[in-house]
Amino acid sequence: MEKYVINGGNKLYGSVKIQSAKNSVLPILAAAVLTDGKVTITNVPHISDVRNMVKILTRLGCSAVFDGENIIIDSSSADCFEIPSGLAHELRSSVFLLGSLISRFKMAKIAFPGGCDIGLRPVDLHLTGLKRLGVEITEKNGYILCKCEKLTGNEIMLDCPSVGATENIMLAAVKAEGTTVIKNAAREPEIEDLQKFLNAIGAKVLGAGSGTIVIEGVKTLGGTEFQPISDRIEAGTFLVAAAMCGGEVQLECAGAENISSLLHKLRENGCNIHIKNDKIMLESSRRLTSVKSIETQPYPGFPTDLQAQITALCCICKGQSIITENLFETRFKYVPELRKMGADITVIDRSAFVRGVDRFKGATVVAHDLRGGAALVLAALAAEGRSEVLDISHIDRGYGSFEHKLRAIGGDIVRVVV
Ligand code: EPZ
Repeated sequence: MEKYVINGGNKLYGSVKIQSAKNSVLPILAAAVLTDGKVTITNVPHISDVRNMVKILTRLGCSAVFDGENIIIDSSSADCFEIPSGLAHELRSSVFLLGSLISRFKMAKIAFPGGCDIGLRPVDLHLTGLKRLGVEITEKNGYILCKCEKLTGNEIMLDCPSVGATENIMLAAVKAEGTTVIKNAAREPEIEDLQKFLNAIGAKVLGAGSGTIVIEGVKTLGGTEFQPISDRIEAGTFLVAAAMCGGEVQLECAGAENISSLLHKLRENGCNIHIKNDKIMLESSRRLTSVKSIETQPYPGFPTDLQAQITALCCICKGQSIITENLFETRFKYVPELRKMGADITVIDRSAFVRGVDRFKGATVVAHDLRGGAALVLAALAAEGRSEVLDISHIDRGYGSFEHKLRAIGGDIVRVVV
């Protein structure tokens, strides 16, 4: 077990290079199983979700190796269509490997991923979509068993714009016979990035980002070298850190166009933000004004993955805010931890009601999930005095070199083995 020890109060100054997007790299790793061609993914973050996905690919018989900041994958020797239950539970998003495995083996088996720290996380939309492509699905002893004679293109209307379901159906459809149309598809930038990757290996995918995606089935796929988009959630996390601590921080490879909803809110808070090419500069006086309300929505709405971070910011702004979480059922587990640091915050149903206080007070708090854990780190950096953030393995899932990047801009944070 490891923890962060943080002495709060430093303003943040300097530049941060944003990593490739975790939520782009993961589906692209799953997509690499579709092809026998050599795939190189560049500038990949060293985070545990990526390491676990690489472990799963290896267990499927693929060759998947880190080469510095890159991962090189050769799936030509893949010989297994079952995702080990331990790894499937460790990495929920491995569920979108179903599409690739069915495409490759016409069979797939995975333990029901089940819920996690932030909600129920059903996969009904994934399975309904795959059935529309001709997949027979049975659920037995906690496993999902898939098989099909032939994948056939079809029209699929998603009840809600699920990121994972959209990705799973895309992966299953690229080598299906005929055309697949996904309606009410997720519009996240990571979906567009997956389309770009699939077309780079020879698929025919159009429309990602528009809500309607059209996939013409092809017979063969090749290899490619691919640089995923930058991680908009990491970028947003560092911008909120700078807003909370005060100072002046510049992000490199920031992808400002993918976090405009956050930039809009931070300007409302009173931050000065300048965008030039792929850089974002944020200047904050630290004493900011609350935004009245924030509602998380599917892209391009305010991202649920930045909900905890912006709530921590609202806790030390002048005024009151209401933050409503519309996507996941239990994504406020960090709130009792913020209360230990002096936050005036109450959760009723899916909304957090916040009254701004002057500052957080240092305390010992526990990370319960990836983004909630990151929010506790930001609160500790802005707090008066010393804090400890326990169980930081949750944070390691999605932030590479987190403490190194924060120290490089003046954060007083160290990782300690407990
Ligand atoms: C992806 O999760 C991301 N993960 C999540 O990021 C992100 O929070 C989420 O999209 C929303 O943007 C990856 O990309 C690896 P969804 P996913 O399917 O695909 C409901 C992080 O912190 N739903 O879009 O699981 C579901 O209950 C992670 O980086 C169904 O009802 O999200 C939720 O309410 C956390 N049935 C809503 O859709 C289904 O079959 C959005 O879920 C699938 C989803």
